[in-house]
Amino acid sequence: MLKETHLPGIADRAHPTRVGTDSEFGVFHTRHAEEVDASVLSVIERDAFPSQWPPTRFIKEISRRRAVYIVATRDYRELEIPESLKNQGHASDAGFWNRLSSSLRQLLLIDERESTAYPRDYIGGFVGVWYIADEAHIVSIGVRESVKRAGVGELLMLSAFQQARKHGCKELTLEVRASNGAAQALYRKYGFQNVGLRKKYYIDNAEDAIIMTTPPISSVEYAVMLDSLARNHAERWGHLPEPIP
Ligand SMILES: CC(C)(COP(=O)(O)OP(=O)(O)OC[C@H]1O[C@@H](n2cnc3c(N)ncnc32)[C@H](O)[C@@H]1OP(=O)(O)O)[C@@H](O)C(=O)NCCC(=O)NCCS
Repeated sequence: MLKETHLPGIADRAHPTRVGTDSEFGVFHTRHAEEVDASVLSVIERDAFPSQWPPTRFIKEISRRRAVYIVATRDYRELEIPESLKNQGHASDAGFWNRLSSSLRQLLLIDERESTAYPRDYIGGFVGVWYIADEAHIVSIGVRESVKRAGVGELLMLSAFQQARKHGCKELTLEVRASNGAAQALYRKYGFQNVGLRKKYYIDNAEDAIIMTTPPISSVEYAVMLDSLARNHAERWGHLPEPIP
C-alpha cells in the first residue's frame, strides 16, 4: 500500500480557511515528473478527481512523446500537531502526541525517503500538457486537497505556460466540467476564454465540458499580463517556477 506523508484531517483543521503564507504550506518548486513519481501522482489524481475512470497510467503518460508532466514539490517536513488538537480529550497528554508523531515520522517519512521507489520530495500537485499541432493542451491539473488555495495550481499553470512557450505553441487549450467553478476561475485568471461546449463529455455523469482557450500567448498584451501574474504570484506565495531545461 502506498504510504502518504500528509494527514489531511490534521492540516485541514489547523488551517480551515486555506488562506495563508508560504510558511504554512511550504515553498513549492517545479520539476519534470519522473517514473518514480507515478504512484504518488495516482494518489493525487484520486484525491483531485474522485470520479475519474479509468485512472491515468502515469508511467505511460510521463514518457509520452510530445507531452510534458510537471510536478510541484517541496521538501518533506516534520509532522505538525496543532495546539488545538493537542488540547482535546486524551490528547491533553502531550507525550501521547509526541510519541504518535515520532512513530508516524518513522513509519511514514523516514521509510519513504529511504525507499528507492518513492519520490525524493513531497509532491503537492501536477499538470500534464500534450502538444497538439501548435497548441498546448492541458490534459490534467490537480492539487492535493491539503495544499489547495495555496498558489500551487497557479504555479503549475505558470509552468504549463513556460513549457508551451518553449515549444513555440500559439495558445493553450483545455476542457473543464461545466460545474467546476474553482478550475474555471483559475483558467479565467490566466486569460482563458470559453470557446465551445462538448455536450455530455464526461462519462460518469454525462456532464458537459466547456472548451477554454487562451488568446495568442506570444502577443505583447498577453505576455505583459502573464508577466504581471507571475510577479504577483511570486510575491504572494514565494513559490519558484524553476527554469526547466
Ligand atoms: C483547480 C485547482 C487545480 C486549483 O488549485 P489550487 O492550488 O487550489 O489553486 P490556487 O491556490 O493556485 O488558486 C489560483 C486561482 O484559482 C482560483 N481558485 C482556486 N480554487 C478556487 C475556489 N475553490 N473557488 C474559487 N476560485 C478558486 C482563484 O482564481 C485563485 O486565485 P486567487 O487566489 O487570486 O483567488 C484545484 O482546485 C484542484 O486540483 N481541483 C481538483 C481537480 C480539478 O478540478 N482540476 C481541473 C480539471 S479541468
